[in-house]
Amino acid sequence: MAEADGIAVRVERMIGDVTARIGHVRPLVEAAFRAAPRHMFIPPVALVAGEEMVAIDRTADPGAWLDAVYSESPIVTQLDDGRTPLRDVIDDGGAVRVPPGTDYTSSNSAPATVADLLNLLNPKPGHRVLEVGTGTGWTAALLSHIVGAGNVTSVEVDAAVAEQAAKTSARPVCSRIWSSVTVRTAAWSGRPSTGCTSPVVCGGCRTHGSGSAVRAG
Ligand SMILES: C[S@@+](CC[C@H](N)C(=O)[O-])C[C@H]1O[C@@H](n2cnc3c(N)ncnc32)[C@H](O)[C@@H]1O
Repeated sequence: MAEADGIAVRVERMIGDVTARIGHVRPLVEAAFRAAPRHMFIPPVALVAGEEMVAIDRTADPGAWLDAVYSESPIVTQLDDGRTPLRDVIDDGGAVRVPPGTDYTSSNSAPATVADLLNLLNPKPGHRVLEVGTGTGWTAALLSHIVGAGNVTSVEVDAAVAEQAAKTSARPVCSRIWSSVTVRTAAWSGRPSTGCTSPVVCGGCRTHGSGSAVRAG
C-alpha cells in the first residue's frame, strides 16, 4: 500500500474512532480532519500519552509512528518548557523514564478532545478566531481550513514552540491547508482581542499575567 493510501485509511479510522467516542463530529470538522492530517504536525520523536508513556520515532519505525499519530492519544511534544529534551527521557531500548516532577508543557491534543472543542465552537467560514496555545499548530490548521485564509490568530507562550509551529506551517505541503494562520509568541491573560467573532481557548492553557481564569476547551 502506498504511504498516501495508508494515511487516508488511518485518517478515516481516526474519524470513525472519534465519532464513536463523542457521538458526532460536525461535517466541517470532519472535512478539516481530512484536509489537515494530524501526522503533518507531529515531530519525528514524541511521547504518546496513555496508561504508560511510549516513545515514537519516525526514523526508527515509521509504521509504529503513524499508528500512534492516528490513535486516540494525546502526544507530548515538550517537557519542562524545553529544558528537558524528549530524548533525555528515552533510554537506549526505547523505554520512557520521566523523572518525578517533570512538567508536560506542550502537546498535540487527543483527536476526540479537538473534535469536541471544535464541535462546541461551531466555527463557520468567515469567522475570525483566536486560538490560545498553538502547540504543534494542528488545531490552528483545522480552524483555518474551516474559517478561511487569514482568519485565525494563534498565540503561543513558548517562543520555541511558536517557532516550530510557524516552520511547520511554512512547509509547502502545509501552507496549502494552513491558509495564513498568524502565530504570535504571546501569553494569554484572559482578555479577548478585538474583532474575534469566535474566540477559542484550548485545553491545557495556563493563565499568564493578571487576567481572569482561562476557560478550558
Ligand atoms: C495542549 S497544547 C495545545 C495543542 C494545540 N492546539 C495543537 O493542536 O497542537 C497547549 C499549548 O498552550 C500553550 N500555552 C499554555 N498557556 C498559555 C497561555 N496562557 N498563552 C498562550 N499559550 C499558552 C502551551 O505552551 C502549549 O504549547
